[in-house]
Amino acid sequence: MATQRRADLVVIGAGIAGLTAALSAAERGLDVVVLNKGSRWDPDAARSATPHAEHSTSTFYAQGGIAVVDPSVPDDSVGLHLTDTLAAGAGLADPVATEPILTDGWPAVAQLVRRGADFDSARGRFLRTREGGHSVRRIIHAGGDATGARVQAALGAAVGRSPVTVIDESWASDILTDDGEVVGVAYVHDGVRGVAWAPTVLIATGGVGHVYAATTNPAGATGDGIALALRAGAVVADLEFVQFHPTMLYVPGARGRRTLVSEAVRGEGGRLVDAAGRSVTAGVHRLGDLAPRDVVARAVRAAMERTGADSVYLDITDVDEFEGRFPTVTAGVRASGVDVSGGRLPVVPGAHYLCGGIVTDIDGRTGVTGLLAAGETARTGLHGANRLASNSLLEGLVMGRQAAAQAVERAGRSVAEVEVPGLGVAQALDRTVLQDAMSGRVALDRDAQGLAEVARLLADAPERARRDLRASEDAALALTAKAIVTAAQARQESRGCHARTDFPDKSAIGVSRSFALVGDELVSVAERPVSQEAGVSARS
Ligand code: FAD
Ligand code: SIN
Repeated sequence: MATQRRADLVVIGAGIAGLTAALSAAERGLDVVVLNKGSRWDPDAARSATPHAEHSTSTFYAQGGIAVVDPSVPDDSVGLHLTDTLAAGAGLADPVATEPILTDGWPAVAQLVRRGADFDSARGRFLRTREGGHSVRRIIHAGGDATGARVQAALGAAVGRSPVTVIDESWASDILTDDGEVVGVAYVHDGVRGVAWAPTVLIATGGVGHVYAATTNPAGATGDGIALALRAGAVVADLEFVQFHPTMLYVPGARGRRTLVSEAVRGEGGRLVDAAGRSVTAGVHRLGDLAPRDVVARAVRAAMERTGADSVYLDITDVDEFEGRFPTVTAGVRASGVDVSGGRLPVVPGAHYLCGGIVTDIDGRTGVTGLLAAGETARTGLHGANRLASNSLLEGLVMGRQAAAQAVERAGRSVAEVEVPGLGVAQALDRTVLQDAMSGRVALDRDAQGLAEVARLLADAPERARRDLRASEDAALALTAKAIVTAAQARQESRGCHARTDFPDKSAIGVSRSFALVGDELVSVAERPVSQEAGVSARS
């Protein structure tokens, strides 16, 4: 007999989106359960500012900061932030979703500060740095480049003081529904199956970086939320837009999570050069090294191809007090055996962020009643074809709060206790085989032949029992990869993070495509042109 518990809201994931939702809902009197497949939060890890012991959230590893408009600052405005976000989004960011998220950023940050976060400041104002695609300095940060660790610490401590129940080392295996409406989540904790019954479930499971061989993401970024949502009947969109960060530290032969060298390093004077010291981005974009990420990542790749080198370099000699301003990067670089004092860090593009995801409205609702999604796993329309740097923590904060508001509305509904299915079988591949195929054929550049090869590999993947976390993650990786490949095949143009060498041009009209799971196949269910005109917010 499975362990049973009841709640008003079950949150899957303990990063910025999940914990913000949990705290906001608990403050409004809801009974909240958080499932976290990672280990218990360790407050000492955050204090060390050297976050290299594996942690389960991307939030913990965030470096650059949070992009947010301080209304008291004269050189910035939500309108300007909107313009930058839409420009980075390459015609697919939806202004109707984007504008309210950006507007809600400042109050959401103020609430985070009340919950215990503090940001680097001077003379009563937050310090602001700059990253790619931003026309002004608007990124607030903490502990130099330890923003994520500090935010995670603040949220973790606030949850510790709250009545929220967190079940660490428990992985959600299935969303349970009755007649198309959510009734709870099946999970596994300590090898024992459990069920948390609730009228509202929030998927806040983060990213998918481990679909690729090398990534900035923590080990748990295996696309679980995408798989949970698809199997529950929700739709996903824009999954072809996987953002590659231009400056992941290059370590020959290394796989899995690798150190990020924050874009803020370029914001503070770092320069991208090739082995001969030539600028990597000269003549590529008016913003040079601070162009949007897709542009810089491709310029890095082009420089590597031109020179035949395995990496380019980030020249940090003009960055004031590098080690003090960037302690997290410094520690990560040193832990990888690279010498910081040489003033040149070897870097390559690395899988970093999923711009698309589970389709939600701007209240966090998916198409399945009672099922919400927030944070990196969700597709609100904020990022379009390429996320603007540091807009992700912002989105997690804002949409976490929105999700809580939805859970409050649904609290008290009766929940039918349906039969809980077994873990069953699902298609899966050996993880290394999957990652190498995706890194080889579905990374920065794609073409019809490479996509068809990977599609065949995935279609022929054997069914394996989802008997433990590793096997369940392998199944999620395979389904997520299948969804990325299907979306990339359908998009016969180059736009934002998605570059087709066989379709190098951008179509005149940006179309967002959503897919649902039918049997084992991803089936296109909607194609929607995305207007770039600001519209009226549809928030309820
Ligand atoms: P996460 O913080 O990744 O949390 C996901 C949670 O879900 C984890 O607790 C995990 O254990 C849990 N989970 C997953 N699957 C399951 C399951 N099946 N069952 C139970 N639990 C599960 N963005 C910015 O805006 N600014 C930055 O400076 C920045 N820097 C970054 C640096 C790095 C190195 C990385 C990797 C990302 C960075 N990003 C940054 C992106 C940003 O950090 C993430 O997009 C964001 O933190 C995601 O938050 P989240 O709450 O959606 O997910
Ligand atoms: C970085 O610090 O470069 C990461 C910022 C982000 O991913 O938004």
